[in-house]
Amino acid sequence: MGRDAAVTDAVVRDVVVVGAGGMGRAWMDVVEAREGLRPAAVVDIDTSTARAAATERGWNVPVFDDVAEALREAPADLLLNVTIPEAHRAVSETAIRADVPVLSEKPATPTVADAMWLSALSAARGVLLATSQSRRHSAGISAFHHALRDLGGAEHLETQFFQNPRFGGFRDEMPSPLLVDMAIHQFDQARYLLGSEPESVYCEEFSPSWSWYRGAAAAQATFRFSNGSRFGYAGSWCADGLTTSWNGDWRASAPGGSATWDGENAVRLQREEGPVRHLPVIPDQEGLDAALTEFLSALDGREAPSGEISRNIRSLAMVEAAVESSATGARVELDAVFARAGAVALAEAHAAGEDEIADRLSEWAGGPPR
Ligand SMILES: NC(=O)c1ccc[n+]([C@@H]2O[C@H](COP(=O)([O-])OP(=O)(O)OC[C@H]3O[C@@H](n4cnc5c(N)ncnc54)[C@H](O)[C@@H]3O)[C@@H](O)[C@H]2O)c1
Repeated sequence: MGRDAAVTDAVVRDVVVVGAGGMGRAWMDVVEAREGLRPAAVVDIDTSTARAAATERGWNVPVFDDVAEALREAPADLLLNVTIPEAHRAVSETAIRADVPVLSEKPATPTVADAMWLSALSAARGVLLATSQSRRHSAGISAFHHALRDLGGAEHLETQFFQNPRFGGFRDEMPSPLLVDMAIHQFDQARYLLGSEPESVYCEEFSPSWSWYRGAAAAQATFRFSNGSRFGYAGSWCADGLTTSWNGDWRASAPGGSATWDGENAVRLQREEGPVRHLPVIPDQEGLDAALTEFLSALDGREAPSGEISRNIRSLAMVEAAVESSATGARVELDAVFARAGAVALAEAHAAGEDEIADRLSEWAGGPPR
């Protein structure tokens, strides 16, 4: 590695990366570039993938096909969980039980019940678990966020997300590909932009006649937030022509006027009278890098990251509530989602004799404390 000498006086943290697919490799590059981090092991159920990813980067580290074994054999100050969503709970749980803090790719888990379980475990053990929501961190969204604050806070926020990827593979076959695999990004961005938490949603998902997906790849949803603001989402993953950016195309109305963001670097603001102003977008840490900085800062004893599990669970609950609303045709309250998910997790904790998890869940009828 050759970086040890440069950081002799600083804290050096050993990192175990779990999952060496496309995103795992992106995270390995982030680790490689970050002073103060040292790769300790790479884990993948396919060890040839893990070995190849390590070798490509010149990492002389052991590889494992099992996270528990890796944590027994290799030193670890933090673990990056970059496995497929279905493996997130087991990998994060193993690390927390080994007292190793976890930064996980989104979604924290496939279901709110699983996320409640992990949140309770993390709280009971005092071991940090956070989700990286990379689209929450960009120069563009920061400028838009500032604009909304300048205008007195948005009460009406809309985004249009229209893209046309030909993925092939699991997204073409899964139910609700747009809501389950993509919309969590825009839902999480809305929580950040409104500075409030979602309370309820009405959603319809559907399949345009030309869609190449088996599941519904288009949706319209209206969320109500606890401060009274509304967030409208219109999205499609099968929209050829005039596509928006991958962050979506945003517009907000606030007491002092309106602002727009194209999801990239164009942020505009206009008050009742006066010119349209193009706001400066100041480059800063973005995406995975910014999520990692928040996480390391929390390990240093500073503020909890924005993706800390008990907060991030609300973005996941927005997805689950939107899917349920679409299936039932009714507005869905997020408290009802948390109550049901909490009951599932609590029953599992009782059945497994997991008293410390059961104790936390019993205290949280309406979801983890904000
Ligand atoms: N933030 C973003 O913009 C963004 C973009 C793409 C993917 N992601 C997320 O990143 C995660 C990984 O996605 P990907 O595209 O790299 O998937 P991928 O399928 O390319 O890679 C996942 C890897 O995890 C391994 N794996 C599966 N189960 C495992 C287990 N129990 N233990 C160890 N390894 C295991 C697989 O063998 C595979 O190599 C997903 O949660 C996905 O949603 C986020």
